[in-house]
Amino acid sequence: MSEKARENFGSRFTVIMALAGSAIGLGNIWRFPYMVGEHGGAAFIIIYVLCSLFIALPIFFCESILGKSTGKDTFGALESVAPGTKWKNEGYIALLGSFIIVSYYSVVGGWSVDFLIRSFMNDFKGESLEEAAGVFHNMNASVWEPIVSLTAFLGLTAAIVAIGIEKGIGRFAKVMMPLLFIMIVIIVVRSCTLPGAGKGIEYMLKPDFSKIDGPAIAAALGQGFFSLSLGVGCVLTYSSYMRKEENVFYTGVWTAIFDTFFAILAGFAIMPAVFSAGLEPSAGPSLVYETLPVIFSRMGPLVPIIFFLAILIAAVTSAMSMLEVLVTWLVDQKGLSRKKATTLFFIACWIVGCVCAVSPKVFSICDFMSSNVFMMFGALVFALVVGWKMKKEDVRTQFTNYGTSHKAGAVFSVVWFLIRWIAPIGIVIIAITNVL
Ligand code: TRP
Repeated sequence: MSEKARENFGSRFTVIMALAGSAIGLGNIWRFPYMVGEHGGAAFIIIYVLCSLFIALPIFFCESILGKSTGKDTFGALESVAPGTKWKNEGYIALLGSFIIVSYYSVVGGWSVDFLIRSFMNDFKGESLEEAAGVFHNMNASVWEPIVSLTAFLGLTAAIVAIGIEKGIGRFAKVMMPLLFIMIVIIVVRSCTLPGAGKGIEYMLKPDFSKIDGPAIAAALGQGFFSLSLGVGCVLTYSSYMRKEENVFYTGVWTAIFDTFFAILAGFAIMPAVFSAGLEPSAGPSLVYETLPVIFSRMGPLVPIIFFLAILIAAVTSAMSMLEVLVTWLVDQKGLSRKKATTLFFIACWIVGCVCAVSPKVFSICDFMSSNVFMMFGALVFALVVGWKMKKEDVRTQFTNYGTSHKAGAVFSVVWFLIRWIAPIGIVIIAITNVL
């Protein structure tokens, strides 16, 4: 035993909170609610759940099996299951994907730091919606403000990652994720009891199946992948720090349930408030950072504080998982210490983040490339490696944790079919639809 024992997350609760922390992020708060309204309300939620169940969750299992069974980073895991082949080169793409996503994600994470501080100063009180939109634009027009907040966000993320798996990432997720749920529930209650909130609830719930077309299905799957943090090695890397007795099936199912539940909660936190103010929801940043601060500040000074703190927590726990992919690689493959590895990537991500912060064009290229190229390609490789390179019996052993999980055993044949056929075919069709 000359090798140092690999760190692990400790308890099962911690692993699930870390994985849920990775999954629950900006994707749930500003992408999901808007997409629901855009693509047919409850009808979209149904499609989303189906895509997550039949395509995204099987990919999650693949990554988790690769990580847990090998106890290695993306390169090491692929090399272990398909030695001497080219599959391990996916490791580079996963690294690049994580690197790019965490860099531009930190820009948006930085905005939440900025807006949290403004909320503490009660900055949005009394402003009209136009003035509030001005705050967001002025922030971005200033060069230093987004960079300072990006630095704060990335610095916090890196500090937690530098501490380590159990004491840093695990402990932060274990404490913060339950708090995050409480915070979002408070906002849901506040938002749904506003006068005129009914329209927003209807927006989330009224199923309009006529809006379910090809692009809506592609959007549902893309959202499912983004939301479960798939394709760039986050799930693989976290799973490599699971204890041996942990159960891939159980952790995957719970992560997906928490993630979906949180996304729906976020919709009920946001949409009723928007409609009650007599507004129509708009996409992405403009909704969360222009309209909502004012609406929430009208509900009392605490509400925007809770809201932006929630966004900040959700974003930090997601950014941690991407940074960890990079750090684990440097530690495992290059033998660097965790602190050194984190510092190096903090600097590299900060540089790319600064470019994204000042150039909306680079920002949107990064966004497009990550969701359409890196994640899709990675997800396909993980499915093919587990479904076609690993032996069925080995996959079964891992999936059922040496036969100890009877529930996993009962669904294995279905999951195996999804991994081999449905997931890869689905990914290819959707990648083509998205790019065209
Ligand atoms: N899932 C996170 C969210 O919903 C973002 C995220 C973390 C992610 N890790 C990822 C997205 C890896 C894509 C790939 O906000």
